[in-house]
Amino acid sequence: MSDIAAAPADPARGREVYDLDRAHVFHSWSAQAKISPLPLAGAEGSYVWDYDGNRYLDLSSQLVNTNIGHQHPKVVAAVQEQAGRLCTIAPQHANDVRGDAARLISGLAPDGMAKVFFTNGGAEAIENAVRMARLHTGRHKVLTRYRSYHGGTQTAVTLTGDPRRWPNDPWSAGVVHFFGPFLYRSPFHSETEEQETERALHHLAETIRFEGPDTIAAVLLETIPGTAGIMLPPPGYLAGVRELCDRYGILLILDEVMAGFGRAGSWFAFDHFDVRPDLITFAKGVNSGYVPLGGVVISDAVAHTFDERVYPGGLTYSGHPLACAAAVATITAMREEGIVENAFRVGQDVLGPGLAEIAQRHPVVGEVRGIGVFWALDLVKNQETKEEIAPYGGTSEAMTTLLGALRSRGVLPFANYHRLHVVPPCTISEAEAKEGLAAVDDALTEIDRFYEG
Ligand SMILES: Cc1ncc(COP(=O)(O)O)c(C=O)c1O
Repeated sequence: MSDIAAAPADPARGREVYDLDRAHVFHSWSAQAKISPLPLAGAEGSYVWDYDGNRYLDLSSQLVNTNIGHQHPKVVAAVQEQAGRLCTIAPQHANDVRGDAARLISGLAPDGMAKVFFTNGGAEAIENAVRMARLHTGRHKVLTRYRSYHGGTQTAVTLTGDPRRWPNDPWSAGVVHFFGPFLYRSPFHSETEEQETERALHHLAETIRFEGPDTIAAVLLETIPGTAGIMLPPPGYLAGVRELCDRYGILLILDEVMAGFGRAGSWFAFDHFDVRPDLITFAKGVNSGYVPLGGVVISDAVAHTFDERVYPGGLTYSGHPLACAAAVATITAMREEGIVENAFRVGQDVLGPGLAEIAQRHPVVGEVRGIGVFWALDLVKNQETKEEIAPYGGTSEAMTTLLGALRSRGVLPFANYHRLHVVPPCTISEAEAKEGLAAVDDALTEIDRFYEG
């Protein structure tokens, strides 16, 4: 147990915060009358607390973005210091922290990716990466996976595979979806990872052939799909995609918005694999959302396209000094404190083995998969049929019971459809991770009755 205590309870203030929210705040991705947001009063490290004196272990990292934990003192101090010095500067000027942030971020990427275009978040990073790819290649199509999420703005949401795309489909010109590898629910009826890699690559090659290679600007992949289920690419898949892209002059965009900056126990998730992207999109963990920031790391070849030609894109807050100061402090603190290494170790020594043990005790857990502090429990009604415990794009009594059970055991969960994701901050200690595992184990007992196998 951590010694971090919640602030003193103030239920009256909690009710005011709730009422204000319900009266005036319009929430993302929600039917407004059907939600009941939990008012949060504060946070520190791996914990958040409400106004009623309840403390929660944050196994969600909010929206899988507070990789450095809550209220990291070095990042808070850097934002405060920058606010006192220079709050804002337009993007057309040079600025010290913007340059430093760009240098540090491009330094984490492979050689030959010296430049960074800053945005306010992940969706804008996708918008701009795709725009760069289209202008660089002179082609218009982008291939992306069904099992993916790339953001809520127009281009990003149409590139997204999940059902949030469906109402936006009328605007999805030039977007083509395909199936990626996913052995547990193999779309290719594979029985081994080797088969899955080979068949998924064949499927992509056929998609490229039938769409017309000369029409395709980019293949866009989350290196490890996040919200869509945390499926690690099988050996050889990403290298095979790179090879197909090279064969046809197609750019490879790796979306590292969720998987990057320590989440997968590495700086970029693609560090685990033999692949080199042309464009990298990032956001979330780059500064753990202390101030909104995202961006695109650009290969020199793509960057040179815009040496003499105007890049037709920009944002008032591109490279905002407060956000960049937070990024510089975040990356520096993550280095100094071995936070990426901690994420890998906790995944390898505690979360991975602990979740595997939990799966042995609860047949509703069909599969556990992940790496670092990036884990998914695929929950099923039946181990043989693998029927999901909630429908694709929906929820179920089993899932709402599980989420309530976790909350009542002092855990903030992250869930998507039939899956529970265990995605704590990269700074989580072994003891906190064990506390989270015990709560997950116990909460699952409340949904064991939904197993029908
Ligand atoms: C892989 C991925 N790409 C893009 C986005 C969009 O980022 P943002 O919400 O900052 O616009 C997300 C958000 O969850 C994401 O997970």
